[in-house]
Amino acid sequence: PPDLCPAHSGVFQQMVKAECQFINGTEEVRFVGRRIYNREEFFNFDSDVGHFVGFTPFGEKEARKYNSNPDRLEYDRTAVDWFCRGWYKYVASFTLQH
Ligand SMILES: *[C@@H]1O[C@H](CO)[C@@H](O)[C@H](O)[C@H]1NC(C)=O
Repeated sequence: PPDLCPAHSGVFQQMVKAECQFINGTEEVRFVGRRIYNREEFFNFDSDVGHFVGFTPFGEKEARKYNSNPDRLEYDRTAVDWFCRGWYKYVASFTLQH
């Protein structure tokens, strides 16, 4: 297998993932925005929690910064509606067929 250790390859990867979980159509929806660095999720926003949570020292610092910004909190707290429910009809049109 390829050597994926970043220290050896010199390759670093940052990912931002926005995840919508449709538990019951658009009735019960969960939004999770994940920040991942080299496969490690260092902080996220989970709509079930309602604020940013850090999982590493740097992630905790980032989470505090985001949580102290009311506009940013509002943006993520409302994502279940404007992002997840907003996209549902397009997503459902192909995923529900499988
Ligand atoms: C799913 O939502 C419908 C309304 O759209 C509701 O009638 C039904 O009870 C819900 N099912 C569950 C398992 O919560």
